[in-house]
Amino acid sequence: AEGTLAEIVSHAKEYGFVFPSSEIYDGLAAVYDYGPNGVELKNNLKLLWWKAMTQLNQNVVGIDAAIFMHPLTWKASGHIDGFSDPMIDNLDSKKRYRADVLLEDKAAEYEKNGEIARAETLLAEMGRLLTAEDLAGVKQLIIDEKILCPASKTGNWTDVRQFNLMFSTQVGAVAEGSSQIYLRPETAQGIFVNFLNVQKSARQKVPFGIAQIGKAFRNEIVARQFIFRMREFEQMEMQFFIRPGTEDEWYQHWKETRRRWHEAMGLPADKLRFHDHDKLAFYAKAAVDIEYEFPFGFKEIEGIHSRTDYDLTQHQTLSRKKQNYFDNDVNPETGKPYGNYVPYVVETSVGADRLFLATLCQAFQEETIVEGEGEEQKTKTRKLLRLHPAVAPVKAAIFPLVKKDGLPEKANEIYNSLRHDFRLVVEEKDSIGTRYTRQDLIGTPFCIAVDHQTLEDETVTVRHRDSREQTRMPISELRAYIGEAVSV
Ligand code: GAP
Repeated sequence: AEGTLAEIVSHAKEYGFVFPSSEIYDGLAAVYDYGPNGVELKNNLKLLWWKAMTQLNQNVVGIDAAIFMHPLTWKASGHIDGFSDPMIDNLDSKKRYRADVLLEDKAAEYEKNGEIARAETLLAEMGRLLTAEDLAGVKQLIIDEKILCPASKTGNWTDVRQFNLMFSTQVGAVAEGSSQIYLRPETAQGIFVNFLNVQKSARQKVPFGIAQIGKAFRNEIVARQFIFRMREFEQMEMQFFIRPGTEDEWYQHWKETRRRWHEAMGLPADKLRFHDHDKLAFYAKAAVDIEYEFPFGFKEIEGIHSRTDYDLTQHQTLSRKKQNYFDNDVNPETGKPYGNYVPYVVETSVGADRLFLATLCQAFQEETIVEGEGEEQKTKTRKLLRLHPAVAPVKAAIFPLVKKDGLPEKANEIYNSLRHDFRLVVEEKDSIGTRYTRQDLIGTPFCIAVDHQTLEDETVTVRHRDSREQTRMPISELRAYIGEAVSV
């Protein structure tokens, strides 16, 4: 059986994946810390994304831009004027909500009851009102749909207001004249402002991409669903710079490529879907979400956006620095080079934390197993994480069967011979069954048992997490065996 969100949250905490931030002070809403297993899993996901971008594509290179940027960046990008969510308060409970989320939840309720057309009409109407910035219309829709406050169950709503999601702070000592700067709400702008630096220094020709992994910050109005919506989170973004007119084919290309990647990482095809945006962000010509079916429904994990030349043109205007590219390729229609233009951009943007949550939800299982035979037979349940070996925090655990007779020393010898290749642990404490259970709970794909026979013939027993089957194999084959399993 799959887990509920509550089970996954508690599992994540108990086994060192995710902790609430500053928990001893009762936590900080929508901020989380990754524990020893969580940081390994997250790093593995990030590394695989990085490889899929910058190692599998010669024309994609990486950067690591600063979180702080010149304040004009956010004027140019449109975030100062346009990066806000429609907020509404309930007068009885004094709780604040996102008006669009209340409407989306209502649509999800219709969908759940099989009223698909009604759900679609509601979403389309919401998209139309938000695009027209008709906030009074949005409030009216909430009233017409008889949406009640989840906390007070009353419909006593304030007007809908726009709330900017950017965090700001001051740079420089006040006496010297400080200025307001923002914590970046997306990593993308660090890429746009470096477009020419990268193109020239990496000698790239359009089409080419720039990839980046880094923190982003948004003062989300409603924080909920664990690490799904956080105020401090990590994005993995890639901006692909292309010749104008080729955006539709590149949009299709990245849409399909990214979906296949999620499948290769272990998210099954039937739990992934595309969702075209009803309401386009201010920068987008076309936008699609890749959604995963979380325990709380299908939700976005990645966005693919066709951003035209919006960002580069905006930066060109505000910085007064040309963002042109000279394309030497010959246009077959004119027989002349394509020449100067501001490139178009198709971006792929995935949240590392959302991908982490999807991976954890997918991996978490509770199953009934039968042990023993005949009279001795008994059933029990086990919880485990069926993580792809490539992302598992520990690739193999090595268990000396007993704490004597030279078995711990042999286990450590195996550990030392493999630790440069894989993250391993040696565990001596408790019965072998308890040790298996502990590794199942954190998703370790292999447990290697070192017994007396090992000392005689240099073989070990490898126990497989998912099937619980055991295979005897020479120590000399472990590296290739684990290596094969952990590659994607
Ligand atoms: N540069 C485009 C951009 O930022 P977005 O759809 O706003 O697009 C991209 O964000 C991805 O970042 C989302 O698909 C999601 O995975 C992640 N993300 C956005 N806001 C988030 C939040 N508050 N907490 C966790 N992840 C978030």
